[in-house]
Amino acid sequence: MTEPQRSTDDALAPSSASLSRRDLLAGAAGLIGGAALAGLPIAADGQVAKATVPPVAPPTTPPATPPARPVVPVDPTKVPGTPTAQVGTRSEFFAPTRAPFGEITGSSLTPLQDLTGNITPADLHFERHHAGIPAIDPDRHTLTIHGLVDRPLTFSVEDIKRFPQVVRTYFVECAGNGRSAYRDPKPELTAQKVAGMISTSEWTGVRLSTLLREAGVKPEAKWMLAEGGDACMLTRSVPIEKAMDDALIVWGQNGEPLRPAQGYPLRLLLPGWEGNANVKWIRRLELGTKPWMTRWETSKYTDPQPDGTARIFTFELDAKSVITSPSAPQTIAAQGWRTVSGLAWSGRGRVKRVEVSTDGGTSWHDAEFLGTPESKSTVRFQYVWNWKGEEAVLLSRATDDAGYVQPTRTALIAERGPGTDYHFNQIVGWKVERSGRVTFHGAT
Ligand code: CO
Repeated sequence: MTEPQRSTDDALAPSSASLSRRDLLAGAAGLIGGAALAGLPIAADGQVAKATVPPVAPPTTPPATPPARPVVPVDPTKVPGTPTAQVGTRSEFFAPTRAPFGEITGSSLTPLQDLTGNITPADLHFERHHAGIPAIDPDRHTLTIHGLVDRPLTFSVEDIKRFPQVVRTYFVECAGNGRSAYRDPKPELTAQKVAGMISTSEWTGVRLSTLLREAGVKPEAKWMLAEGGDACMLTRSVPIEKAMDDALIVWGQNGEPLRPAQGYPLRLLLPGWEGNANVKWIRRLELGTKPWMTRWETSKYTDPQPDGTARIFTFELDAKSVITSPSAPQTIAAQGWRTVSGLAWSGRGRVKRVEVSTDGGTSWHDAEFLGTPESKSTVRFQYVWNWKGEEAVLLSRATDDAGYVQPTRTALIAERGPGTDYHFNQIVGWKVERSGRVTFHGAT
């Protein structure tokens, strides 16, 4: 199934010489987005994406000139700089973009190859929506807890903020992350296409257990239905053990309110569990004795097995890693020392070890953590490598503190079959040619 593709190339054809620097920058951003869009072969998490955006006519002429570089003074020490502004912007030399975009039902992937450190800038957090991004007035939004409770309760957003708060760094990963690399590991895949449905934020919120204790969960309650306030009212069933363990109701992301695309004003956060169950725009929690068997846990988000059955309620995300630098379509310019850097994570706990191979998995070396691995968060790793111009295959392999080791693609296919549809955590990497050209290597 192909994602609907929206051409942005027409923004690149300058119609006159009077284009402003801003126009050219917009063109540059469009070029990156368009290039990343082209050839994304498989819907990012298996849904039939509806073409809700009117088709745009293909460009009739190719871009005449490459986007111009931003104009800056020859010597910035000789002229005053620009004044302060109410809201900051990125350097004009750095225009990372998610792709694809313009989807009501679809996804938009984080440009992992452009990012450093561990936290994902909120405006580049991956998105996956089933009915677009709702516009919600926080003063009218409420969260109701009912069903098998002693006291059904309805909280305003301000009510929820009165409870003791917690701040935690967790990743959110779509269960469909990595489908293209599993199904069809083409050399031109980028880090964004291979693994761009993982993002990490510092979240502020309240423990869900605090709210549930306020309502008084009856002993016979074993499951909780979480309902979102978007146009499809996405619903997932969550075991009560998780709800009472580390689940959060969050309103803050990286020091500010949630972005609308991340669930403003409130979202459920289930650390380490597949993104779809982290219901955004959360408005209702119902306690019951059994799972509700919603469409999001029956026809979707179940994992076909080789014997024709399917795994269901596979919430935990397995240990995984991806090298983001170098990555396709980069070319390594010079031989010698450089770092091989990427992200590793596990939905079960802390990443304990990341190993890097430069010879396609024949030998492995321990990578260094940049920062302390935290439970159910990503951690950045690096391995310092001396490239002497030989053909190389760079791979990374994560092990978590449960002892689970990231499998090869061959091992994962043997276990789950070629047609499985979620939870793709196979080892992936990059081939470095003698010319320095980098392409995706998925056949592990
Ligand atoms: Co699952």
